[in-house]
Amino acid sequence: MYTHLRLEEVDSTNTYAKQHFAELADGSVVSAYRQTAGRGRVGRKWHSGDGLDITASFLFKNLEQPFLAGAITGIAAIELLKDECPEISPFFKWPNDIYVRHFKLAGMLSEAVWEQGKIACVICGIGMNVNSGDELLSGTGQPAVSLFSLTQKNFNVDFLIERLVKIVNRYYIICQQYPQDVFAKWREYNRLIGHEIEVVDPMGKCMRGVFRDVSPDGAMIFETDGEQKLFSCGDVKINAQSLDFFK
Ligand code: BTN
Repeated sequence: MYTHLRLEEVDSTNTYAKQHFAELADGSVVSAYRQTAGRGRVGRKWHSGDGLDITASFLFKNLEQPFLAGAITGIAAIELLKDECPEISPFFKWPNDIYVRHFKLAGMLSEAVWEQGKIACVICGIGMNVNSGDELLSGTGQPAVSLFSLTQKNFNVDFLIERLVKIVNRYYIICQQYPQDVFAKWREYNRLIGHEIEVVDPMGKCMRGVFRDVSPDGAMIFETDGEQKLFSCGDVKINAQSLDFFK
């Protein structure tokens, strides 16, 4: 049976989960009221308000493919948002973000723990801006929103985390038997498929093209200058002008 460990303060829930993964049951989650050194993708920092936002890391010890950790957590977050905040239209921005229009609402950081040449656990940490105000959001260095800034309503963070934990657990169970169903749902929430985007590759090179599809192992199939490229990491850039489905 999984456990939910709620910490008052920690450097990073991902770091804690990595350090303690052996003691924590499969499917467990570590969440925190305050992170003192929250981490984002590619070495970035992650800022969240004390008790204002969701900061939680899920442990997956039994996945067919590592990218499914982000898929399960992302699907669960979008389903939570659909239920609790139906006035917004969140979507998944490959590889690991949740956006509302061209603003970032949540980010995920997936990290693998290796033992004897095999992945023993994938940790997927999610940070979601819930009640953060403009001051905190403007310090993130990219266009960002919170549920509060979108709706002018305050949300009960503990309640949202508990619900998120339950939905993640439900999709993790589904994933054991029907990973293809989880993949299909994740693909459906990747609303940028078929749209023109910009990609920044791991070397920092920016390319314009079309997000054709996702491959069965979670990579992005990107078409530029009539050529298809496969990305397993990188950053997708969008802005208000580039997204025709907002119009
Ligand atoms: C990103 O968008 O770059 C990923 C952000 C991930 C932030 C979460 S908050 C909970 C967990 N602990 C961390 O230190 N990072 C993740």
